[in-house]
Amino acid sequence: MPSPKPLVVLGDSFFPEVIQAELAPWAETRVAKTQQQLHQALKQAWGAIPMLSQKFDAKTLAASPRLKAIANYAVGLDNIDLAACAARSIRVTHTRDVLTRATAELTLTLLMAAARRVPEGEKICRSGRFKGWGAQMLLGQELQGRRAVIAGQGRIGQEVGKLFEALGIRVSWIHRQTQPAEIDALLREAQILSLHFPGTPQNKHWLSARRIALLPKDAIVINTARGMAIDEKALAQALKKRKIFAAGLDVYEHEPKITPALLKLPNVVMLPHVGSATEKTRREMVRVAARSLKDIWDGQAPWNEVKLPQ
Ligand code: GLV
Ligand code: GLV
Repeated sequence: MPSPKPLVVLGDSFFPEVIQAELAPWAETRVAKTQQQLHQALKQAWGAIPMLSQKFDAKTLAASPRLKAIANYAVGLDNIDLAACAARSIRVTHTRDVLTRATAELTLTLLMAAARRVPEGEKICRSGRFKGWGAQMLLGQELQGRRAVIAGQGRIGQEVGKLFEALGIRVSWIHRQTQPAEIDALLREAQILSLHFPGTPQNKHWLSARRIALLPKDAIVINTARGMAIDEKALAQALKKRKIFAAGLDVYEHEPKITPALLKLPNVVMLPHVGSATEKTRREMVRVAARSLKDIWDGQAPWNEVKLPQ
């Protein structure tokens, strides 16, 4: 008798043909989208490919006695209790590298849209209020020669830096070793501030009301990382009072909820957390996740394994 195939729970149907090619030959798969379906499936599952919205906290893991491998369908790991995984010898992988470019390009998209007031222009066109070319209409900002501060020097931050530099934007960095006084000095000069920190508790409200108040009046704040890094209410206040020029956001503090004050502001460009959402990248993400599970099943070390806390 052949040995039974391991059960792998999928947080979405993803790209069925990729699942068919990469998982079906050696694993059983079950799609579990709701938390209830997930809990049920995890009673038997050996592996999982979760969505970011699916919490793998200590309680969930304790109710998953056979779980040995989690291949997160994301680069961020804030939905997974890594210490609890370490305690249970559950191995974890993520989709780093393959989504770096897509996310960096979306960062640029938001920056350009915020600088040239794309949402306001769209609204004028769609509402029939475009009455002809205007000398003073929708004056925005040119990016060449501007000073940008990129906070977070990981893969995505570095890729954003390359794209900015290609446009003639002058880039400075904030990284883990940057001292508080130096951060303040950089923020005072930041005409563009782009955040690229992981969603760890110590980054909560990194961009606080105090730091927002340091930014120059022409500052554009971009966030394609994690919403919790910004005090969203304080940001909305600053945008409303025109203390800064604009913001471009792909992520939110209380996702999927968005602070109501932001929704009313013309000077914020908003997207629904789509940083990695290109066809090419999303396909590659599920392929990478499936292959990392296969490696673990075969007793190999996948290249994208996450180092767990001891
Ligand atoms: C998306 O936010 C990710 O972490 O991949
Ligand atoms: C962060 O910048 C990453 O790509 O992990």
